[in-house]
Amino acid sequence: MRALVPERLVAAMKPSQILLSLVSGLLTVPLTYGAAIHEDAADVQHIKFDFIIVGGGTAGNVVANRLSENPKFKVLVIEAGPSHEGVLSSEVPWFAANNWFSTYDWNYTTTPQVGLGGRPAILPRGHILGGSSSINFLMYTRSTREDYDRLAKRTGDDGWSWNSLVPYFKKNEKFVRPADNHNTKGQADPKVHGFDGLMSVSVQNFPTSIDNMVVNASRQLGGDFKFVQDYNDGKPLGLGWLQTTVDGPTGRRSSSATSYLASKFLKRPNLHVLVNAQVSRLIQTRSGKTPSFLTVEFRQISRSPKLIRLTAQREVILSAGALGTPHILLNSGIGDAKALRAVGIKSTVHLPDVGANLCDHSAIANPFVALTNDTFEETRKPEVTARLLDQWKANGTGPLVNTVASLISFHRVTGDDVPHPDPAAGPNTPHFEHLFANGLIVPNAFVPPGQHIFSVATALVSPSSRGTLTVNSSDPFAPPLIDPALLKEESDRRMMRAALRHAFKFVAARVFDGYVLGPAGDLANATTDAQLDAYMDAEAGTFFHPTGTAAMSPKGAKHGVLDPDLRVKGIAGLRVVDASIFPDIPSGHTQAAVYVIAERAADVIKSAYRK
Ligand SMILES: Cc1cc2nc3c(=O)[nH]c(=O)nc-3n(C[C@H](O)[C@H](O)[C@H](O)COP(=O)(O)OP(=O)(O)OC[C@H]3O[C@@H](n4cnc5c(N)ncnc54)[C@H](O)[C@@H]3O)c2cc1C
Ligand SMILES: *[C@@H]1O[C@H](CO)[C@@H](O)[C@H](O)[C@H]1NC(C)=O
Ligand SMILES: *[C@@H]1O[C@H](CO)[C@@H](O)[C@H](O)[C@H]1NC(C)=O
Ligand SMILES: *[C@@H]1O[C@H](CO)[C@@H](O)[C@H](O)[C@H]1NC(C)=O
Ligand SMILES: *[C@@H]1O[C@H](CO)[C@@H](O)[C@H](O)[C@H]1NC(C)=O
Ligand SMILES: *[C@@H]1O[C@H](CO)[C@@H](O)[C@H](O)[C@H]1NC(C)=O
Ligand SMILES: *[C@@H]1O[C@H](CO)[C@@H](O)[C@H](O)[C@H]1NC(C)=O
Repeated sequence: MRALVPERLVAAMKPSQILLSLVSGLLTVPLTYGAAIHEDAADVQHIKFDFIIVGGGTAGNVVANRLSENPKFKVLVIEAGPSHEGVLSSEVPWFAANNWFSTYDWNYTTTPQVGLGGRPAILPRGHILGGSSSINFLMYTRSTREDYDRLAKRTGDDGWSWNSLVPYFKKNEKFVRPADNHNTKGQADPKVHGFDGLMSVSVQNFPTSIDNMVVNASRQLGGDFKFVQDYNDGKPLGLGWLQTTVDGPTGRRSSSATSYLASKFLKRPNLHVLVNAQVSRLIQTRSGKTPSFLTVEFRQISRSPKLIRLTAQREVILSAGALGTPHILLNSGIGDAKALRAVGIKSTVHLPDVGANLCDHSAIANPFVALTNDTFEETRKPEVTARLLDQWKANGTGPLVNTVASLISFHRVTGDDVPHPDPAAGPNTPHFEHLFANGLIVPNAFVPPGQHIFSVATALVSPSSRGTLTVNSSDPFAPPLIDPALLKEESDRRMMRAALRHAFKFVAARVFDGYVLGPAGDLANATTDAQLDAYMDAEAGTFFHPTGTAAMSPKGAKHGVLDPDLRVKGIAGLRVVDASIFPDIPSGHTQAAVYVIAERAADVIKSAYRK
């Protein structure tokens, strides 16, 4: 909720004036006391914050909530985007992609990708409180036990292992009933889930007409399409019902903003959130052997181009995401000294791996023509969407409470298609994934309109390719150069070809006889290796999961950016908590991984100040 009466004004007002403004406020908007979501830096400039968190996204809001549980810690979140409150395209799960190229998106595009035939790809990122958790496709996949055990091994910190993190998954999660209140027995395993956390997770909120066919295909095909009751138990290989961060009882998106910044938390007098404030860089506050960078510089461009500075008493925590965090570090002179000097940025701390190791999943939607009239193509007709929105508004039910898929499957490639070394974390970790969708996942130019579609998307979830995020300008507000190296390595392309052939195997299941008529658009011509490559070049893109640009490594290691306690190497009072921290990309959609590391990070930070 927005601050009705900014603290600054309250401090200057006489008691009678406060009463008057509160009473008049009651007639218009609900009241908030204490801290709140501030639109103007002037509201918070007089406060001495212990912690300043840069980025009110998925991770940042978790850390802000948990640190402010201690009333002695004054916490400020600085977010570039606007508040999430009342943003329909964020609240309605089905509208996720409507946020692309809006105020709520950073509008990033990658550099031309060699793995995409020289094409750049769009790379949406949340520019709104809640960050990408406010605009993502809501899929809740934790990744595998082996992913986290590898993280523990790579960092030398057993606190990052699966067993150590399970309590934090449960601390994050509130597993709730689906919007249509159907019996979910057999669709998820309650033992795997948390019921007392803050962020809602549910299975399948509204049935789609392909669901039973997909489940039956799993039975008919067996093998690596075998049905798994709950892919979030650490061993996901097989096909199962998709779980999403939809709050079933209300039919609304659950994001880090709706959950960790719920109004009861915003009432805490020691928690403040400043929106529409874009951080440019951190300013060095101490030099010498272990420098510190406790001053945060930002601007509120909607108000003035003026740069504003605030200094934290204890720590600055960068949670600006896998693109924002390395960008801010580089703008601050923290990165490869030579590369920074070349673009006119004064080097402060030589840390060559900042922005290196950028890794993302790549994906293709793969449409097939279906003999039906009951697909997303229908839902997307404006008059139908309008009617369904009325239903959603009336009682939070109907097709708009779904994301784009209801079932998901995870697979490994075999034989010669397995790369050496194997980029997957172990034998129970997938190389690729399918999403099954009752229509085009996102309308695109490759499929002529007027057809009804069944999609079997393919995504490479354990890639070998690594890219970079670099800066091309000393202007901290110029966008960075983002090269996620999608499908760059031949071994990744080979796995993607195997994944595409695997999608064709799936639609060959008996249950699709007379339903799936054949591949749609240019998938129709994708058979030989060369044709599959041409198809990838034309159609592959990001799966929206960039990670790894400020990766952890063992304490004292020369490589990497962070120690296992998330402190930036060689700097005092500066940590990173977001998707940047993973040395290897997790094999699931990344939000659950970000939530879980943020929950543990908050405990790691708190323990540093326990007397
Ligand atoms: C379109 C899309 C679909 C996705 N689908 C899924 C999915 O279905 N399931 C899933 O698990 N994951 C999905 N993801 C990925 C997932 O949402 C992200 O991995 C995760 O949310 C990242 O969390 P984060 O905290 O690292 O970054 P973010 O949540 O992106 O938070 C970073 C925050 O920092 C702010 N920020 C950045 N720079 C600055 C600055 N200079 N000054 C101030 N603030 C700044 C941003 O505005 C943002 O609020 C999707 C992502 C997108 C974009
Ligand atoms: C993204 O592009 C849209 C459309 O051009 C624009 O309205 C929006 O302000 C842009 N987002 C940002 C963060 O600049
Ligand atoms: C799926 O299989 C079940 C059980 O065999 C059968 O009753 C049902 O009709 C099948 N549904 C579809 C859509 O094939
Ligand atoms: C789809 O709708 C059209 C027009 O109403 C109808 O002619 C056709 O038979 C329908 N097709 C299916 C598969 O239901
Ligand atoms: C919700 O509203 C729709 C129509 O707007 C109605 O068909 C449906 O039965 C309602 N559901 C519940 C659970 O009230
Ligand atoms: C890098 O910056 C220069 C100078 O501003 C510009 O000419 C060039 O196009 C930029 N390169 C990329 C890849 O954006
Ligand atoms: C497939 O290839 C044939 C022959 O090259 C071409 O005529 C046809 O248009 C192609 N179809 C699609 C959907 O790309």
